[in-house]
Amino acid sequence: MKKIHFYIALTILSITFIGWNNLNVDTLEPKNDDLIEKKIDSLLAIMTIEEKIGQTVIYSSVEDVTGPILDKNYTTYLKNGQMGAIFNATGSAFTRKLQKIAVEETRLGIPLIFGYDVIHGYKTIFPIPMGEASSWDLELMEKTARIAAKEASAEGLHWTFAPMVDISRDPRWGRIAEGAGEDTYLGSLIAKARVKGFQGDDLSNKHTVLACAKHYAAYGAAQAGRDYHTVDISLNTLRETYLPPFKAAVDADVATFMTSFNELNGVPATGNEFLLKDILRDEWNFSGFVVTDYTSINEMVLHGYAENLQHAGELAMNAGVDMDMQGGVFKNHLKTAIDEGKVEISRLDEAVRDVLRLKFKLGLFDDPYKYCNEAEEANIILHKDHLETARDAARKSIVLLKNDNNILPLNNSKKVALIGPLADDQFHIIGNWAAKGDRDGTAVSVKEGFEAQNKSFKFAKGCEIEGGDTKSFKEAIAVAKASDVVVMVMGESERMSGEAASRSNLKLPGLQQQLISEIKKIGKPIVLVLYNGRPLNLSYENETVDAIVEAWFPGTSGGHAVTDVLYGDYNPSGKLTVTFPRNVGQVPIYYNMKNTGRPEDAEGAHSRYVSKYIDVENSPLFPFGYGLSYTSFSYGKPVLSNQTLSNNQPITVKTTITNTGDRNGEEIVQLYIKDRFGSVTRPTKELKNFKKITLKKGESQTVEFIISAENLKFYNNNLEFKNEPGDYDLFVAGSSNHEFTNSFTLINN
Ligand code: GLC
Repeated sequence: MKKIHFYIALTILSITFIGWNNLNVDTLEPKNDDLIEKKIDSLLAIMTIEEKIGQTVIYSSVEDVTGPILDKNYTTYLKNGQMGAIFNATGSAFTRKLQKIAVEETRLGIPLIFGYDVIHGYKTIFPIPMGEASSWDLELMEKTARIAAKEASAEGLHWTFAPMVDISRDPRWGRIAEGAGEDTYLGSLIAKARVKGFQGDDLSNKHTVLACAKHYAAYGAAQAGRDYHTVDISLNTLRETYLPPFKAAVDADVATFMTSFNELNGVPATGNEFLLKDILRDEWNFSGFVVTDYTSINEMVLHGYAENLQHAGELAMNAGVDMDMQGGVFKNHLKTAIDEGKVEISRLDEAVRDVLRLKFKLGLFDDPYKYCNEAEEANIILHKDHLETARDAARKSIVLLKNDNNILPLNNSKKVALIGPLADDQFHIIGNWAAKGDRDGTAVSVKEGFEAQNKSFKFAKGCEIEGGDTKSFKEAIAVAKASDVVVMVMGESERMSGEAASRSNLKLPGLQQQLISEIKKIGKPIVLVLYNGRPLNLSYENETVDAIVEAWFPGTSGGHAVTDVLYGDYNPSGKLTVTFPRNVGQVPIYYNMKNTGRPEDAEGAHSRYVSKYIDVENSPLFPFGYGLSYTSFSYGKPVLSNQTLSNNQPITVKTTITNTGDRNGEEIVQLYIKDRFGSVTRPTKELKNFKKITLKKGESQTVEFIISAENLKFYNNNLEFKNEPGDYDLFVAGSSNHEFTNSFTLINN
């Protein structure tokens, strides 16, 4: 009965405000955004303050745990109209049951939004985001996000807490796995692709979901790579490095933002008006809503920024937070704060409006159950096309780091010893934050991949990922002795990256290195395949094995993809989007660092008095942009259309690339520039463009990039985003580790 009252009330109010002819009565949906605002006006006019506060509250169901505190009373809050959204509740039947309570048992029947962490797939799991990013394939990443949205929405979900767009340059930080890596330019393009994939171009389409740019902001700059730790960076660095991917998400019309746990320069992000109002609303005109991270309002007390929970709630609401995730602070303290005049009712209305607007855009007022279609679920979840895309994404995410003597691709005639704790794994292979991905056998292990392609091999686990003992070494050694080549599938557990999983040591965990050492003694060639959620310290492995295949956590079809690459059915094309250090002491290390006044390669530099370590070289083990192929590519000298560039006269850079090897392959052609000097010091190089090309053996192709004055802007000391006349160097190559091969001058005009 209540539902009817609500709709009658809403219709009457709407007609009062906007006249019958503007309303599409059979759907009660307004025809455009202005009408949505009018309908929200109507709703706000009849909502009690408790009902308004309810729309600013999200709780987790107890079905899934993604944080420290669970509140089993969430269904009570739901019945009382005290929550506007739920997360970690999935499945058409379960979400329908909860939606029914909201729509039919509360006074106004305002539908719920259902959120979930659909980070790299929902049921069909794609490579972890760091892995996918290594494909540099923006269309692919948009496609996998699209599939994730389709599967998630088929199970009643409206909202994913993704993409995570945090730039990170510290492999100790476990959440580096969830992002696109260290580069702001590439990370911004990937942010846009993933937002478009999740949201499509019509949020009311039932196979699209709201995306969420997180974690705002600079969460990846946590001191010492320790999760949740302090972030203290210059405003230049914030603007230059950490904010652009969030701005790219806004430009892609991302529906929501999530605040980060960290403080930023003394002010927690969840109470940071500079971030949430000055930048996000006033400068970027963001029109969605802002949800906090899990209890991050409460944590402002522990940060030492709020005196108590009510004060924390006031700080968060007044700074621009619209929804409190799991903390219960808005639910329990916001009314008092308003009664005491600490929060204006108008600010609450703004937050409620931001939330209701997206509920209208999702079409939930038209049909609250439109995403709860049990019949559809079965046709969409784990569809064979999705699994094939997962295999394609995994293949393209794999980075070939080493291939001495072209030991790869393997020849079918070779007898293979398949060894390692992850060779037969179907649990860790889908990585961390794997939503509803099955860990009980749906994913394809490398062993299954070999079996599916009738490869000649013998398997022995050899050791555990962590801990364990050497008792299984003997079997592995015996299998290796009877083989022609040894494939070792090793790495981290899925729990060793993602949230709350920082590591102070980047080496292969447990006894894995010891097992490699024992196998090495046998004298057979060794191919090391890695599952990991961060750059590892592979210095020992690089000295010991013949080939290294970086597979990240390759997802549901990972075993097929790894097999495809190892046997050459797919020629690896991935390139690193994060730097692999020689050891953890080099961290933070990334490709576009500053030159310093005493670079070790300066002309005439003294061997001692330069910026260096006395126990390891400065260079990384594997640089950003690096990845090998089974073929080889040669690059001609970049040819410029002009040696000078001005604000209204861009230049083109043409480079001819030739496949000089004996098989077809893909190459990610990268353009880097260097601003020789500026009013603030400039990075030694910056990625400014890239293009993935396919070349048949012997084929050449000319790749053209355009460089405009706009591409040369940076934040100067007054935080103005400008370019400055001067000389620039450039190169075009298949990695960031290359010398400059041409130059140009930006002139004022
Ligand atoms: C977690 C994570 C965040 C996630 C949220 C909801 O603590 O920090 O990324 O989206 O809680 O699960």
